[in-house]
Amino acid sequence: MKTIRDLDIAGKRVLIRVDFNVPMDEERRITDDLRIRTALPTLTYALEQKAKVILCSHLGRPKGRRIEEYSLAPVAGYLGEILARPVTLAPDCVGGEVEALVSSMQEGDVVMLENLRFHPGEQANDPEFAKRLAGLADVYINNAFAVSHRAHASVVGVPAYCREKGAGFLLARELEYFHRSIDDPVRPLAAMVGGAKVSSKLGALENMLTRVDRLLIGGAMANTFLKSRGFDVGASRVEDDLLESARQLLADAAAKGVRVYLPVDVIAADRFAPDAVCKQVTIQDIPAGWMALDIGPATVLCFNEALADARTIIWNGPMGAFEMDAFARGTMAMAHTLGTSHALTITGGGDSNAAVRKFGEAENITYMSTGGGAFLMLMEGRELPGVRALAD
Ligand code: 3PG
Repeated sequence: MKTIRDLDIAGKRVLIRVDFNVPMDEERRITDDLRIRTALPTLTYALEQKAKVILCSHLGRPKGRRIEEYSLAPVAGYLGEILARPVTLAPDCVGGEVEALVSSMQEGDVVMLENLRFHPGEQANDPEFAKRLAGLADVYINNAFAVSHRAHASVVGVPAYCREKGAGFLLARELEYFHRSIDDPVRPLAAMVGGAKVSSKLGALENMLTRVDRLLIGGAMANTFLKSRGFDVGASRVEDDLLESARQLLADAAAKGVRVYLPVDVIAADRFAPDAVCKQVTIQDIPAGWMALDIGPATVLCFNEALADARTIIWNGPMGAFEMDAFARGTMAMAHTLGTSHALTITGGGDSNAAVRKFGEAENITYMSTGGGAFLMLMEGRELPGVRALAD
């Protein structure tokens, strides 16, 4: 796979697929700019090389229709500020007006195309839509790791029509960190997985078993594993249809000699609410009708012990409902554990990154991935369609 450095981009129209699908508040102010800041090295490099930079991204899920609340206007404004140069927002991402705008570009200009998902052709990977996008550029660069698991037009369609293509620095860096931690890790390698659902992470857990030395499971998904071992988890969220899969996974882990750590105590609540009545109980003592919403302090001690001599740690998914203070301690404790660890630490997924930031550890994590679904797909051991498209 070539990177932008391997391509001659001077004076050329370079279409850079970025993932500027960033969270915003009600006033449409960007609340987390990680995906923008991490894209900057590629953009500044292209500008230094005197390229004409055309950026394209999606924002949200407007389902193929033009909906102003999903306009990339706030992102273009924000980017202009941090690049300290004008970023022109095109009226659309394809069409005559956009073509005219692009053909008037000078070296060092930056144009941002309007939200790709205003057109149904983007998610449908429509060849005509891909051709029109590809027609805007001489060179295609994928710098959008976080959407590279989607076989969408701007991710896999456009590169099929561009002879000159490669990865931006962000995509290359994400892959490098991930492969360093999984394919060639300094051991012991531990994965800590949490979040709400086993179903969305079963593939990742199965693949992790073939890679890691230790697997720590927290968050609501731990309930399904606990129930599969015969514990009564009360009214906790459980995926009953996955009890057998959970049992099998634990058996596979034992057969492979992978140590699996499950909660030994939890913070149980009488309902899912910030002001719920809650108490710390062992997993044998969850009251009937109550639900586990965080790992307890004894579990934190066990998890810390399991991570103490780890040299590489991958974290995906929070340990509890950390958005509510009453159930944030487990996630906070584990964020601090990673933040103070000497291991190479990698976090992926919006919730884990939000937790790391909320608890002040962002600076202390070796690498925070910008990907959610893309990160999981790598954890599943699968190749990203967007990466495959660059090799073609
Ligand atoms: C993400 O936020 O994970 C990416 O931008 C992909 O967005 P999507 O899940 O709407 O395809």
